Amino acid sequence: MLKLENVSVHYGAYQALSNINLAVEQGELVVLLGANGAGKSTIFRTISGLSKPSSGTIHFVDQNVGGLSADRIVEAGIVQCAEGRKLFPQMTVYQNLILGGYVHRKNKDKQKQTIQEVYELFPILKDKRNDPAGSLSGGQQQMLAIGRALMAHPKVLLLDEPSIGLAPLIVEQVFEVIKQINKSGTTVLLAEQNANAALRIADRGYVIETGSIVLEGRSKDLFENDDIRKAYIGA
Ligand SMILES: Nc1ncnc2c1ncn2[C@@H]1O[C@H](COP(=O)(O)OP(=O)(O)OP(=O)(O)O)[C@@H](O)[C@H]1O
Ligand SMILES: [Mg+2]
Repeated sequence: MLKLENVSVHYGAYQALSNINLAVEQGELVVLLGANGAGKSTIFRTISGLSKPSSGTIHFVDQNVGGLSADRIVEAGIVQCAEGRKLFPQMTVYQNLILGGYVHRKNKDKQKQTIQEVYELFPILKDKRNDPAGSLSGGQQQMLAIGRALMAHPKVLLLDEPSIGLAPLIVEQVFEVIKQINKSGTTVLLAEQNANAALRIADRGYVIETGSIVLEGRSKDLFENDDIRKAYIGA
């Protein structure tokens, strides 16, 4: 469904990604594991059209999305929930959600229906719909960020480190919802450093180190891999 072939990305003279090959099939939940600075967000930014590859191709469904603008990529069905949530803290929960549905703003009925679906998935967002986003707890803000991405009707949802800064119990809740979103038909690509939590819900994974994919496999095999355990799980 989504396929990167030999994608390289430079920031000026610095090469952040080298020949990335990565594929996500329809319906899958795939995790991209990597330490700080490995290149996870650069991959996401590149898929989303915010950084341009210096070489390589990005295919999505039946089109080459490599050269498309970021808004066209959202319209095609690739929606990113960025690192750090990027909410509008003074705006209400409801207003943040509406902004997420901007690409479908002409279809008001559909928008109303989607917001109800988001409220069903995250009842707390319905309770707090008139509160400023900045007043929510960290976990609730992450749920709002995911809900806002869902408002754009993703075919593939890119989640960049949703567990960052959250207590273990909250991480579990967020990952449970991610699993549920995937089960109800949305393909998910998840970037994480929390290998333990991510590999529990993912079908497959890739490991990225200093801009290159160094390992890929089924979650179960990655979970049992000694190098992965040492680097990311600590057991
Ligand atoms: N705008 C930029 N200009 C120059 N270098 C950048 C820029 N953005 C990222 N980099 C560099 O590219 C490399 C990959 O960064 P990236 O943000 O993709 O990593 P990451 O895996 O998402 O890390 P983190 O877990 O900290 O979010 C790092 O060495 C980073 O310093
Ligand atoms: Mg990052």
